[in-house]
Amino acid sequence: MDRRNFLDLLARGTSLGLLLKFSPLGMLEFVRAQSSANPFPRALLVDKAGNPFKLSSLKPHEPYVFTYPFAATPNILVNVDAELAPVDVKMPDGKNYRWTGGVGKSKSVVAYTSICPHGYSYAAPNLGAMGYYKPEGNRGARMVCCSHLSAFDVTKGGEVKGGPAPHALAAVVLEYDPAKDEAYATGFLGNPQFDEFFRAQAQNLRDLFRTTARAREEVAKATVLPYAEHTKVPTTCPVLG
Ligand code: FES
Repeated sequence: MDRRNFLDLLARGTSLGLLLKFSPLGMLEFVRAQSSANPFPRALLVDKAGNPFKLSSLKPHEPYVFTYPFAATPNILVNVDAELAPVDVKMPDGKNYRWTGGVGKSKSVVAYTSICPHGYSYAAPNLGAMGYYKPEGNRGARMVCCSHLSAFDVTKGGEVKGGPAPHALAAVVLEYDPAKDEAYATGFLGNPQFDEFFRAQAQNLRDLFRTTARAREEVAKATVLPYAEHTKVPTTCPVLG
């Protein structure tokens, strides 16, 4: 039974228990991942000209940004130059989930929200508190929030490696089309905390977007920009963890 048939049967009301009984283990993984996703409207990743963004164009360890699902919520997209397998991510509230690993031809491309789960600092256009740090020595690829030095392992579903962050970064669910080398963002794994973010950053967002409604506009196509082009004032800090 392939994934489409499986979904068709589910849509027609066939018992999930019965389906799982006769399904391969891989399908179990698929169901686990999907059931913990926070879905948002599907958005194609595009370049500045509006053409589909090709994931193979990402150079290793060069971070990019696309805003999704709202105009004011940037995510960091990066090729970490290593194939990444799915991992289980533990959450303090017990709502654990399975991160589905890297995507792209080499399964090395990942995307995470840039909103820090500690105090909601982020890769803002006017101050890049959250940034990507390539591997160095024994330390792997990280995203780090310079506000209070929370560090996240982007190769392990965004798990916390240091600092006060209470849980992992939420990962963007990317649906990859290998024939076209294009991807859609379809939602998040984990807790993206958008309501908390919009409350905490209300004044800054009003400065940037003038109105809350504009900041909360849903993104129909997600434009991918180099991190340095989106975030005019980046910060750098020591990576602890
Ligand atoms: S806001 Fe990110 S570490 Fe505190």
